[in-house]
Amino acid sequence: MKILSVVGARPQFVKLAPVAHAAAAADVEHAIVHTGQHYDPMLSDVFFRDLGIPAPDRHLGVGSGGHGAQTGQILAAMDDAITELAPDVVLVYGDTNSTLAGALSAVKLHVPVAHLEAGLRSFNRAMPEEINRVLTDHAADLCLAPTAVAVEHLAAEGLAGSTVLVGDVMTDVLLEVRERALADTSAVDAVLAAAGLARGEFLVATLHRAENTDDPARLRAIAAELMALPVPVLLLAHPRLVARSAEAGVEWSGAVRLHAPLAYPELVGAVLASRGVVTDSGGLQKEAFLLGVPCTTVRTETEWVETVELGWNVLVDPRDPSGTGGGTSLGAAASRPAPAPTEATPYGDGHAAPRTIEALRALVERRA
Ligand code: UD1
Repeated sequence: MKILSVVGARPQFVKLAPVAHAAAAADVEHAIVHTGQHYDPMLSDVFFRDLGIPAPDRHLGVGSGGHGAQTGQILAAMDDAITELAPDVVLVYGDTNSTLAGALSAVKLHVPVAHLEAGLRSFNRAMPEEINRVLTDHAADLCLAPTAVAVEHLAAEGLAGSTVLVGDVMTDVLLEVRERALADTSAVDAVLAAAGLARGEFLVATLHRAENTDDPARLRAIAAELMALPVPVLLLAHPRLVARSAEAGVEWSGAVRLHAPLAYPELVGAVLASRGVVTDSGGLQKEAFLLGVPCTTVRTETEWVETVELGWNVLVDPRDPSGTGGGTSLGAAASRPAPAPTEATPYGDGHAAPRTIEALRALVERRA
């Protein structure tokens, strides 16, 4: 069996790592296409280096662009990559434009497609990611679900027959990296020292979603809340946030210490050293939960509902982050104490990647 993984954006490299390792352990041939959606070294190369991912077999180099242009360029280039690499199954990850383009190309070339992290729903059709994940699930021959809730969503859309619950591969990689981060804190200590932060006395923040960064009024309102927090905030700024802040006239100051994105082991170490996380990222909500750190999510909804139900995540409406309309304010949410620890493991046992390889094998055998 030959698997072809299609990746392009930062969170996909994290998910690729345990899959690449599980494929190698099972002696399965595994090729990688990097679409080039993310190209900054801190959003791309460092993940391959730190997580021991083999170099991609093809780099499509598409770069940034509007949704149509970016998705279309990946789609066109994927046709040739799939034809040349001749996989038995194409594996796409998550919900980015690279995910949708990879799935569409494969399905049109009659190559079986599997979608990792299938079945997540925000039920917010204004998010490009929601469209990407719904269309990818329906194009896929195999939906690899990370959670029981995702399985329910897929069944409600008539996709029970193509669904397998494997767990969340992000748990696999996080548990491993957590050990490394605990054993060697030197890189994180250097980041904290340079930013003048003390362990346990700061928040880690990220903000990159288009719906938050690309609306100047919303971005200014969120920024005002973050800058007024009573605890220092290490804001790990995606290039999109830096660009949009400049356009919206936001000058980061007050509680906020602006910092470049961190490599994955350092991010995990920084979250472990923090007293809380403020984010609009999907992955970081879960990472905070798995690391036992309370999270505040600046979004109207989340795909990772388990983190909210278990009390570890609080949503703040980005249209009213000061809570003047009666909702929770960012300040109140980010200052709340940590809840009681939970034994619940909604994101699996850290062995989702080997299960993924077995599910792919079963798909390929069925289609042979
Ligand atoms: C993409 C995904 C999002 C995911 C995120 C992870 C889509 C629709 N969105 O969002 O689901 O959560 O990746 O980080 O696929 N840029 C750089 N350097 C880079 C890449 C991007 O400077 O290496 C800048 C460019 O100005 C670009 C902007 O960031 O226009 C947005 O990049 P894009 O890939 O379109 O989306 P993300 O916001 O990264």
